[in-house]
Amino acid sequence: MNPLLSQIGAQMSSLTGVRAIMKDVIETLRAGAGQDFINLSAGNPLILPEVEQLWRDCTAELLESAEYGEVVCRYGSSQGYAPLITAIVNDFNQRYGLSLTERNVLITPGSQSLYFYAANAFGGYTDSGELRQIVLPLSPDYTGYGGVTLVPEALIAYKPTLDIDASNHRFKYRPDFSQLSISENTGCVIFSRPCNPTGNVLSDDEVRKITDMAGVYNVPVLIDSAYACPFPALNFTEMTPMFGKNIVHCMSLSKAGLPGERIGIAIGDEKIIQVLESFQTNACIHASRYGQAITARAISSGALVDISEQVIRPFYQSKFTVLESALDDFMPKDLPWFLHRGEGAIFAWLWLKDLPMNDWEFYQQLKQVGVIVVPGSTFFPGLRDNWEHKTQCLRISLTGSDEEIVKAMGRLAMVVSEVYSKVVAAV
Ligand SMILES: Cc1ncc(COP(=O)(O)O)c(C=O)c1O
Repeated sequence: MNPLLSQIGAQMSSLTGVRAIMKDVIETLRAGAGQDFINLSAGNPLILPEVEQLWRDCTAELLESAEYGEVVCRYGSSQGYAPLITAIVNDFNQRYGLSLTERNVLITPGSQSLYFYAANAFGGYTDSGELRQIVLPLSPDYTGYGGVTLVPEALIAYKPTLDIDASNHRFKYRPDFSQLSISENTGCVIFSRPCNPTGNVLSDDEVRKITDMAGVYNVPVLIDSAYACPFPALNFTEMTPMFGKNIVHCMSLSKAGLPGERIGIAIGDEKIIQVLESFQTNACIHASRYGQAITARAISSGALVDISEQVIRPFYQSKFTVLESALDDFMPKDLPWFLHRGEGAIFAWLWLKDLPMNDWEFYQQLKQVGVIVVPGSTFFPGLRDNWEHKTQCLRISLTGSDEEIVKAMGRLAMVVSEVYSKVVAAV
């Protein structure tokens, strides 16, 4: 049966961004069963033994406690499981010298849902028919923002400026404050820090500038800290988590080993939290209480932060170093390739300037030599400018073994040489 769909139904039932690519990846792997593919497309973190053990231990403790029935056999409040909220309030107040109360925290089923609530609560059409925009201040950014609004025209992203270190084949994006507009027509601002896909970490000054611009109009700024400190601490450069009246500090347990349990956390002004909480009550009542109960234990014991700093961060930071050195060894020195500075997250972002084909075609060529990455053009949601850079980038996951990463970068370098040399030959 083909049910008739509403406009929203049609929009929400189509695959956006990277999810569409993932379908192709799965089909490629299925069709090439047995073929030796190196798959560096995953957004799924690896299972690190120490991290798995942490969640096993927390689960064992929960199973043995009297709390178990109360946790899994009963509904709870939409705001979240009280012991988890208390653990977060205590930890953040102590760690960052804040004065949070329980009313400043909301637990959601994964952080993706949080952006969905915010995008639709603050963005879209007002009662008087005015369009409130959801502003992404620096594009590229997380592909998942592409699907969060029920009003696609509300999403607007801004082109960055590029800091290029040509001799070292490195670059870094920066927000272009000469273009960025936040005004009475802005509903909310969202950005990831560290950024998926680029690994960029906006500086404290850049963040302050954005939140100040938004503060003038009482606009909430959601800082997507899915990779930030204190957990999973996937920042490889110094960064200070930011808090403030119009800032919603958004976290996720997914990169700290718990993606299956769907736990997201929002910390912000009581009034903003209340709006998001009501949205959640309507959408799904509350997040899984089992996941919340084990998270409460891991936070209050301090184990989650320790493992993040001692295991998760060094693991991915070292993968980035392996990838970076392999590219430096294998890539042709005379071609205009640029690796984004690896400041965090679990990805590397490669810009192939003047690429003689688009990123999708390059992705297909790379598949021919058994390497799978993600074409970069899926990471520019909301950016309507016709900018050639959008089709010149690739996201490479740091989720392979060291050997796989080295091998894959060798093959990638070979394909790069080939595709650029064909143009030279043709000239
Ligand atoms: C930057 C960023 N934000 C949000 C999410 C969504 O995470 P979750 O809903 O699992 O918390 C992801 C997932 O990969 C991400 O990379």
